[in-house]
Amino acid sequence: MLIHLSSWPEIDARLKEARTVVVPIGSNEQHGPTGLLGTDWMCPEIIAHAAHRADDSLIVAPTFNIGMAQHHLAFAGTISLRPSTFMAAITDWISSLSRHGFERIYFLNGHGGNCATIDATFAEIHAEWSFVEEQPPFVLKMSNWWDLPGIHSLCSSIFPVGHGMHATPSEIAVTQAAYPDHIKTADYSPKIAPVGPIRDALDYRARFPDGRIGSDPAQASPEKGQKIIDASVKALLEDVAAFSAEVRPGV
Ligand code: NI
Repeated sequence: MLIHLSSWPEIDARLKEARTVVVPIGSNEQHGPTGLLGTDWMCPEIIAHAAHRADDSLIVAPTFNIGMAQHHLAFAGTISLRPSTFMAAITDWISSLSRHGFERIYFLNGHGGNCATIDATFAEIHAEWSFVEEQPPFVLKMSNWWDLPGIHSLCSSIFPVGHGMHATPSEIAVTQAAYPDHIKTADYSPKIAPVGPIRDALDYRARFPDGRIGSDPAQASPEKGQKIIDASVKALLEDVAAFSAEVRPGV
């Protein structure tokens, strides 16, 4: 069930049997000269929606498509929230879903730059409940799609060299499989991009002039992307089932 294609009575009825929701979360930011700006929100959305097609009992929230991408702001098309704004927005999403009765909220993340802020948001929320000696009415989880069981090793076996950290061939391949009409090419120079620390936007642009970090996205193909999507769907469904079945001590 996709929340944005459902009516409120449908969600209301579904909540009588299911209390878990998956929220794809990512970022709209540059992904090198050929990667789509939406790559980091599209990948978790592509995987979550494919998982929903495989098992329509899975409830998927609208995609949270703007994240913490300040370091990419020197590239056109990037849109970023500062960490404090992002934390406030995630908190309100969680409060809204919890208010309706969702008890297990699973964020499927597609942007490494979001991790610290999502973790800090969870810690802030948990602190509120800890200070009043109460247990929250929900359990929160974040998983990066590439950290789903088996996916990291699959991506390393498909791309043993030049996977890198940003505008990776695996994420580009996933978007190519889902949006084959939007595949772009370029002569990458150097073939494998440099690596280094991530700081502010101007420092990033100076270190990584075309936007990539350590990657060679020319290796991506829709076929490879489909393989990654299929494996990720299976892994996500298993991970969500385990999360839903997790026993909460003291509740
Ligand atoms: Ni990315």
